[in-house]
Amino acid sequence: MTQLPLHVLAVVGSLNRTSSTRSVINHVAQQMKGPGVEVDVLDLLEEPLSLFNPDSSHQAESFAALQARVQQADVYLLGTPDYHGSISSALKNFLDHFWREFAGKLFATIVASHEKGLTVTDQLRTVARQCYAWSLPYGVSFADHVDVKDGQIISEAMQVRLGMLARDARIYRELLARQRPADLAGTDPGFMARWRGAS
Ligand SMILES: Cc1cc2nc3c(=O)[nH]c(=O)nc-3n(C[C@H](O)[C@H](O)[C@H](O)COP(=O)(O)O)c2cc1C
Repeated sequence: MTQLPLHVLAVVGSLNRTSSTRSVINHVAQQMKGPGVEVDVLDLLEEPLSLFNPDSSHQAESFAALQARVQQADVYLLGTPDYHGSISSALKNFLDHFWREFAGKLFATIVASHEKGLTVTDQLRTVARQCYAWSLPYGVSFADHVDVKDGQIISEAMQVRLGMLARDARIYRELLARQRPADLAGTDPGFMARWRGAS
């Protein structure tokens, strides 16, 4: 089987200038880059996104360009710190702007947490479900100063988990990327039927 081109949108969901989430997302982005794999990094500190407002958010001039980037992606590599057991407001705001674009695509999630980030991972899986997206059957979490220090990944276990995530995102997305266009073009009563004919 020929390899399909892979588009990854990696989202840095921390506005912290010295964010460990940013270090890890950039590390995985580099790891995933390769022949046939394009990684687009959306750092919400560098590219601030207006607070989602259903009445006006889609009218902003810059929105169409971002929407095209989200639409093009097959995999969403999402990074967020654990804030009060929840997704950061920056990442939640990004997610609120989209849903149709996520349908039938794949979420791979990374959480910076001192408490394994399980509730945050669950919330990201809930968002995926609500938007008819798939998610990897696990998320990666890490603790700053234990797994990541001064922008470097210092734990071998974390290196292994990130390698697994990068590999799984690539392989499982390939399966979805073949089925998604077939479902959109077909006539079967699958869940993608509702997006047939949508741009
Ligand atoms: C407002 C706020 C709330 C936080 N709540 C939690 C929490 O509930 N559980 C936790 O483990 N860490 C919590 N933290 C710590 C951050 O998740 C942790 O420092 C993380 O590594 C920050 O990621 P960053 O370096 O990418 O910004 C909180 C930090 C802030 C600023």
